[in-house]
Amino acid sequence: MKYAELANAGVHEQPVYQPGKPIEYVAQEFGLDPALIAKLASNENPFGPSPKAMAAAQTALRTAHLYPDGNCCQLRAAIAQARGIGEDALIIGNGSNEIIELLGHAFLRPGVEVVMGDQAFIVYKLITKLFGATPVEVPMQDFGHDLSAMRAAVTDQTRLVFVASPNNPTGVANTEADLIELTESLPAHVILCLDEAYAEYLERAPDLRAQMAAGCKVFCMRTFSKIYGLGGLRVGYGYGAPELIQLLQRVRQPFNVNAIAQVAASAALTDHEFVNKCRTANEAGRAQLVAGLEALGNATVGGQANFVLANVGDGGAFFQALQQRGLIVRPLAPYGMPAFVRITIGTEAENQRLLAAARELAQSQGVPDSR
Ligand SMILES: Cc1ncc(COP(=O)(O)O)c(C=O)c1O
Repeated sequence: MKYAELANAGVHEQPVYQPGKPIEYVAQEFGLDPALIAKLASNENPFGPSPKAMAAAQTALRTAHLYPDGNCCQLRAAIAQARGIGEDALIIGNGSNEIIELLGHAFLRPGVEVVMGDQAFIVYKLITKLFGATPVEVPMQDFGHDLSAMRAAVTDQTRLVFVASPNNPTGVANTEADLIELTESLPAHVILCLDEAYAEYLERAPDLRAQMAAGCKVFCMRTFSKIYGLGGLRVGYGYGAPELIQLLQRVRQPFNVNAIAQVAASAALTDHEFVNKCRTANEAGRAQLVAGLEALGNATVGGQANFVLANVGDGGAFFQALQQRGLIVRPLAPYGMPAFVRITIGTEAENQRLLAAARELAQSQGVPDSR
């Protein structure tokens, strides 16, 4: 008997997530020096990890033989203090991806529906399918979540509504007023799951904690993978009603967040200088990329996160051509946007290199540069 025959039925239909290609892989494939490759494909922080986090992680390595604190006490206290959230309202995960999966463990099963945007972060759909539930994909409007249409898609079977603001891969954010209106309008059997992975890039992130306190079913998620530069350590958190947090705590692994990640994340929270520097540089980088790409006739969506969308005609061909030049971007055909690529905003030098490569490509195709 084959393993495939032994597997659960859903395993065969489960779509597989396609991550951005690692630098070493691309270097080997194209005979390039890894040091000269710019990975602008996974919305990582081009300025590296927070220096405070790195120092704390190095010290923590000395006790790496010990299991981590399964309750993440120190990190929960640090987040509680930094954000003004009760410790009992917080759950820490192995990246916010794990928190999304915990929602699946707690609330999803066959027959249940999950409402999401049709160009929303793909993990919502993957997790929904993993638990045999039904994704209800609502068309996005101008690259943003259409909250009224999402509200209208809610049925008696809906349990979760996912909104990423800003959204990945489109970068567009919803307003606080619209998010409040949505959460207040949802029936009692539906939880609004607000994914705030890129919230730190906003001038002021929407705050739904008053609605949470008033009993609205809203749960928010954040990550240390973006502005704090800790994607490789895998740490994120969710916050919501203590009753919901207790359910999520039940369905996680006992040691889901490693010890190095816990101390690094705590230290990163205090690294205001690094966060401010990254936010400022990101704004400048966005302007640089948008202006450069538009000059080449590539329509862009600048959005409000740490990446830019560009309509390059054939996203797959653009991706391939740039890869040969040591620049990794993300083609968006898997999101139903074959003309687009998503470009993580890099350092000024990386952005310049990307624009030079795009210009070279456009010239080879006879497109005039309107700079
Ligand atoms: C919208 C969104 N949510 C969640 C995540 C997952 O982040 P983490 O690294 O914390 O799992 C990402 C990562 O790119 C994202 O874009």
